[in-house]
Amino acid sequence: MRVLGIETTCDETAAAIVRLRPDGCGEILADEVVSQIAEHVAYGGVVPEIAARAHIDYLDGMIEKALEKAGVALADLDGIAAAAGPGLIGGVMVGLTMGKGLALASGKPFIAVNHLEAHALTARLTDGLDFPYLLLLVSGGHTQLIGVLDVGEYRRLGTTVDDAIGEAFDKVAKMLGLAYPGGPQVEKAAEGGDAQRFEFPRPMLRRPNADFSLSGLKTAVRLEVERHNTLRAGDIRDLCASFQAAVVDVVVDRVRMGLRLFREKSGPPRALVVAGGVAANGAIRGALTRFSAESGLRLVLPPPKLCTDNGAMIAWAGLERLRLGLTSGMDFAPRPRWPLDPDAERVHNGKA
Ligand code: KG4
Ligand code: ZN
Repeated sequence: MRVLGIETTCDETAAAIVRLRPDGCGEILADEVVSQIAEHVAYGGVVPEIAARAHIDYLDGMIEKALEKAGVALADLDGIAAAAGPGLIGGVMVGLTMGKGLALASGKPFIAVNHLEAHALTARLTDGLDFPYLLLLVSGGHTQLIGVLDVGEYRRLGTTVDDAIGEAFDKVAKMLGLAYPGGPQVEKAAEGGDAQRFEFPRPMLRRPNADFSLSGLKTAVRLEVERHNTLRAGDIRDLCASFQAAVVDVVVDRVRMGLRLFREKSGPPRALVVAGGVAANGAIRGALTRFSAESGLRLVLPPPKLCTDNGAMIAWAGLERLRLGLTSGMDFAPRPRWPLDPDAERVHNGKA
C-alpha cells in the first residue's frame, strides 16, 4: 500500500510518499519539505497570504519530485491524502484542492487528513507503536496532551488556555531581538546561561488538571526585559536559560498530570509520545527522558524531521485511514479549526 501525502496548513510545503511495510511500520519512499521561513522572517511570524501563495508556487513541483524520488507514478499509488485542517485557510485550500484534483484525475481514493491526527499517529509510522498512548503535542500553534486510543479516537486531556509553547518561545525571542523562529535561538542562547538568575513563574504547576498557560510566564520575561536599559549578551543568556527552565518544569508537571488522567480514564498507556517543533528542544527532551525513566514509561521521540510539519505524517495518517476504509468525498471542505476531540471542544466552549 502506497499513499501520497500533501501538507500545506502552515509555513511548510510538503509532499511525501509512504509505503506500509509487512511489519506494520511505514517506510518513507520520498519526503519533500520546503520551509518558507525566509519568506516570513522579515515579519517576525507567518503571514497567511504569503504562505498561501508560496504553497501554490512550490507544491506541484514538489509532488513531481516526490514521485520521481520514490520511483512511482500516480497510477501506482493506492490513495492520495491531503491535510484539510486545522490551519491557515488559504494554505489548506491549496493542498486540499491539489489532493482532490490528483485523486479525481487518477481515479484513486482521496483521504482528507486532520493535521493533528497526523502528528498523533507519527509514532506508529516510525516505531509501529500500538494503541493506546499519551501524546504531548507541542508546536507553534498547539500545546495539547492527548490520549490516542485508536485511529479517529482521541481524548484531549489538557490544552493551553492562552499561548502555545512554541509561540511563547517565539515571542520571548522577539523581545530579546533574536530571529524567527525563536525556539532554536532561545535554546542556543540558554546554553551557558544561569537558569537561577531570574525567578520566573511556573504557571499551572500542580493544578489538578493537565492544562497549560504560558502568557503569565511570557509577561514576566517582558517585565524583566523592560527593567534593563540595555541587554548584554550575558543577560540574554540568563533570561533564555531562566525562561527555558520554567517551561521545562511546567511541561514535566503537566505531563505528570496528563499521565494520571490517562490512567484514570483509559488504563495504562503503552508509551509517552512527543511531537511538534518544540519536541526538538534538548532541555525538554532530556527532562522527559528522565521523567519517563522514573515512571517506567516508554518514551517515543520521533526524529526532529518527523516532529515538525512534514508530508510523511499526512501520507501515513491517510494510509491508516485508507486501510480502514475511511476515505473522503470530493465535497470535503477545508477546516481552519478541527479539534481531535469534539467533546473537549464543547466543554471548552461552554466555559468560554
Ligand atoms: O511543529 P512546528 O514546526 O510548526 C507548527 O507550529 O506547526 O513548530 C514550530 C515551533 C516554533 O514555535 C518554534 O519556535 C518551535 O516549534 N521550536 C522550538 C525549537 N525548535 C522549534 N522551540 C523550542 N526549542 C527548539 N529547539
Ligand atoms: Zn504541525
